[in-house]
Amino acid sequence: MIFIDACYRRKTLRPPIWFMRQAGRYLPEFREIRAKHGFIDVCNTPEVCLEVTMQPIRRFDMDAAIIFSDILMPLVPMGFELTYEKGEGPVIHNPIRTMDDVARLRMPEFPQDMTQLGRALQLVRGELDSEKALIGFAGAPFTLACYAIAGQVGKSMDDIRHFMFAKPDVFEALIEKFTDMIIPYFEHQVKNGADALQLFDSWGGVLSAFDYQRLMLPLISRIMRETRHLNVPRIFFVKGGAHLRWFLGTVGAEVIGLDWTMPIAHSRRLLGDQIAVQGNLDPAVLYAEPGYIRRRTRAMLEANGDRPGHIANLGHGIHKDTPVSGVEVFVESVLNYRY
Ligand code: CP3
Repeated sequence: MIFIDACYRRKTLRPPIWFMRQAGRYLPEFREIRAKHGFIDVCNTPEVCLEVTMQPIRRFDMDAAIIFSDILMPLVPMGFELTYEKGEGPVIHNPIRTMDDVARLRMPEFPQDMTQLGRALQLVRGELDSEKALIGFAGAPFTLACYAIAGQVGKSMDDIRHFMFAKPDVFEALIEKFTDMIIPYFEHQVKNGADALQLFDSWGGVLSAFDYQRLMLPLISRIMRETRHLNVPRIFFVKGGAHLRWFLGTVGAEVIGLDWTMPIAHSRRLLGDQIAVQGNLDPAVLYAEPGYIRRRTRAMLEANGDRPGHIANLGHGIHKDTPVSGVEVFVESVLNYRY
């Protein structure tokens, strides 16, 4: 598989491509399904999950599928009350306040607590071309803690950062518990067909390098150490973590995801030559005219040069009203590129 080869920095004819949130609302066929099924319904109905996971592959023929789910889904068996509100994204109705709240959290058991996800992975792996990879994923401890503490995330991160310093024992017990959940959750996904894993730290960039190193690095390193035996490449993506790059190469992940504020060549120098990179076209570029998207995609690929170990992707998830025509140009430009 070209995607797996690139993760392990083996030579390929061109960079592989997939992108974050590739199954989603910018696709009319996804909106059609969402009109009939609630978000959690889609995740929990293996046949529907198969359908939406495959939609972008059928349309664009990229090199990897990412299982359709959400980083917050494993929080449901832990005891969180989760809903997805129209236009507002995920909401947790019983956020963590005290040490008792953390103590009450249940440790999910796999496969029992996530059987639908397991079944969906099997169905996708069965239908996906054998040359294409299936990516499983999880949220990183800090990003999960953001939702668990704030209930709703996005506007301001201040409440979360205050909590972290006001109740350090509660905060640290919580991120520890999420770490204990993530490791068997990753194992569950690989057992059911995932060929690679991505750990998303979507909010990790709001932390200082000092606090990230002090609190998060030991947990991320543990996740990588304890999933190494699964023998699949692990991608670690910290959105907004440009100031963390100088130590991200040490966590044990095979691939580091780059957002669009992290120039590729400079990032590869910082990360060292044992690390592959993924990214990083600004998703906003897909709103430009075709010729410009083509030029910017090429510029991204040329920034890597001919070093093996680059996976073409966006610098973060695709935006929900992105023109499909722009996406087509982006994917085609990568598929037609040759080193
Ligand atoms: O195609 C894929 O990438 C696979 C599916 C996927 C979703 N969420 C589906 C989804 C993945 C990998 C995620 C991960 C995820 N979820 C992250 C990490 C990646 C990132 O974007 O930083 C985070 C922070 C979440 C939490 C989350 N879930 C948010 C913030 C939202 C709201 C987004 C919005 O614009 O409304 C969701 C809901 C969600 N997860 C949607 C999708 C397609 C949209 C909801 C819908 O279809 O109604």
